[in-house]
Amino acid sequence: MIPDYYEFCNSTKIVSGTRALEHIGYELAALGASRPLVLTNTQLLELKVATLVLDALADTEAEVVGVYEEVPVDSSASVVDDVARAYRERGADAIVAVGGGSVLDTAKGATIVLSHGGTLMEHRGAESLLGRRAVAFIAIPTTAGTGSEVTSAAVIKDTERHVKMGFTSLSLLPDVAILDPRLTVGLPPRLTASTAMDALTHAVEAVSCVQANPLSDCYAKAAIGLIRDHLPAVLDDPRSPAGRLALANAALMAGAAFSNAMVGIVHAMGHAAGGVAGIPHGDAMAVLLPHGMAYNIDAVGDRYGELLLDLAGADVYASTPADERAAASIATVRAMLDMLHTAAGLSVTLGQLGVLPEQIPDIARAALDDGAMSMNPKQPSLEELVEILKGAL
Ligand SMILES: [Fe+2]
Repeated sequence: MIPDYYEFCNSTKIVSGTRALEHIGYELAALGASRPLVLTNTQLLELKVATLVLDALADTEAEVVGVYEEVPVDSSASVVDDVARAYRERGADAIVAVGGGSVLDTAKGATIVLSHGGTLMEHRGAESLLGRRAVAFIAIPTTAGTGSEVTSAAVIKDTERHVKMGFTSLSLLPDVAILDPRLTVGLPPRLTASTAMDALTHAVEAVSCVQANPLSDCYAKAAIGLIRDHLPAVLDDPRSPAGRLALANAALMAGAAFSNAMVGIVHAMGHAAGGVAGIPHGDAMAVLLPHGMAYNIDAVGDRYGELLLDLAGADVYASTPADERAAASIATVRAMLDMLHTAAGLSVTLGQLGVLPEQIPDIARAALDDGAMSMNPKQPSLEELVEILKGAL
């Protein structure tokens, strides 16, 4: 069904392939840029992942004016301002961000400062009104999970107030996203599994949230099918370029879906578990996804029923009565988590992740206040949230 009204935007050019990195010179030139600042972190340089991008850049007409490698795991507003300073001092004309969500979000923050002046904090709350970006921006993800390379959002820490700030603006969408499996073939199994479950959660929540629309559904369902088909195979054969490229595409598609349709209760609880108990995002998503779906089932059971086709394939879908498909979708997600527990060591409960029973009320309160909750198809009470979280403990 087509909603009465919807919006969808994915303006980022996608460059995907087993030798996609070699296209970076052409993409920079097409953007009118020749002096990129490369943004990454020390670990990616040591693992020779970021060096793949530097090697590709060395074969182009572009001159790398600097490599900013001090982006921490949890980036902050002061790091963003420092990146902007380095960009100006070195006379750069493009940012090439190579990393996971933290590096890509730091780059997004830096483009705000570079385009509109001041410090990042000065733009907080007004970012949706920002005009066009004045910086060429290429995003190269080194995990297959956040989808940040095609989302209009950035999450950056305010170190003074110890809160994570969300920035959302279409001007944050990168000009180009490059997906190359050479960047992800070395990811360990546990990280491969947890980032894939983050991507799966983006897709499932995009389908069930109040801003879901026909285009976000297409991206989300395609992402789910790719994860179903390729995640087990990649865990068996981690260096498979085809499998890694499929998972990178899945994460990107899920990112484009939720950038437009938003995420809901699973992300609200996951953000809260991260803030209160320090639980890594992907690990929280893997545990909480089936519990969030079970809570939502009476509001969006028909949508979950449709997803059985993507989660389990045509044979299972066809042999499952229509009124049992939603529950079967949740059972399929639970079975996937069990498989990932065995194959990659993912935790299946919050308790295994280190959450204590006495932390549940605080997590529930924080989840209730999280922005993602307002996009969920159903609004829980504090008591309901406590029960859901206890069920996941
Ligand atoms: Fe996520």
